[in-house]
Amino acid sequence: ATTSVTLNTGAIMPTVGLGTWKSAPGEVEHAVEFALKNGYTHIDTAAAYQNEPEVGQGLKASGVPRESVFLTTKLNNPDQRHVPQALEASLSKLGTPYIDLWLMHWPAPMTKDGKADKAYDWLDTWKSMEDVYLAHPEKVKAIGVSNFSVEFLERLLKVAKVVPAVNQIELHPSCPQDDVVEYCQKKGIILTAYSPLGSDNSPLLKNPVVNKIADKYSVPPANILISLHANKPGHTVLPKSVTNARILNNAKIVDLTEEDIAELHKINETHHFRACHPAWTGWGGLGFPDCK
Ligand code: A2P
Repeated sequence: ATTSVTLNTGAIMPTVGLGTWKSAPGEVEHAVEFALKNGYTHIDTAAAYQNEPEVGQGLKASGVPRESVFLTTKLNNPDQRHVPQALEASLSKLGTPYIDLWLMHWPAPMTKDGKADKAYDWLDTWKSMEDVYLAHPEKVKAIGVSNFSVEFLERLLKVAKVVPAVNQIELHPSCPQDDVVEYCQKKGIILTAYSPLGSDNSPLLKNPVVNKIADKYSVPPANILISLHANKPGHTVLPKSVTNARILNNAKIVDLTEEDIAELHKINETHHFRACHPAWTGWGGLGFPDCK
């Protein structure tokens, strides 16, 4: 298993990061502080999560030097027409002079009232992100995307000056997205798995195959689901928790065998689901990268 990967910028990204989607203000500051004090070096947030100020406070409260932490945030859909301003807003909320990675959250521009902004092209958003990154490498160390299917990546790479460093997508045994994984690996784009446990109340934690492999290594099932990504080339993984014991537990990675990985891979054949399936499918005619 890996403990870090190297981005196409040359920067090192730690394999396991703390996810903060659905981590409410009031819980997330503590979770970030606790994680950083206990060995995590990678935190993932987003403007859309509305918790950047608390994530920033947790970072400060931990006492861990900024340069020892890999910090990711994401451009919110309604800000796609306002890329430089959105970056400044995130930096200010996080209370940091720079972010290690900035992702386009979805290939889906939206208006301020939350509707599809069909008059705007997300390819132009990427151009603006490239401009900001190339002009201010001291503020944004790397740029990437999130929730991009192969079709969308192909459209992007045809015109991109900067190849995204990362594509952050939902990845777990019930949503393997093999086509996206293969494409990104071929192009040197690091995959980051969100909802690796299958998000809240996940059936994967009770799955017999996951539990059988967990028993073999004497670890809780969550560790198998997290370790799965740490055992694949070019992957990082973001387990979310606001619970101390789970935050500690989730950082423990085990080496899986190829047979374990193959068995986990089969789960999708009978137990397919995605945790993130909003009514955004086909949104704005832009499509949503469904898992295949
Ligand atoms: P909580 O944050 O209350 O600890 P995912 O990372 O796939 O999005 O999953 C997050 C969900 O899984 C949250 O509900 C989180 O609860 C829960 N969770 C996190 N770590 C574990 C664990 N080790 N065992 C069981 N549930 C966990």
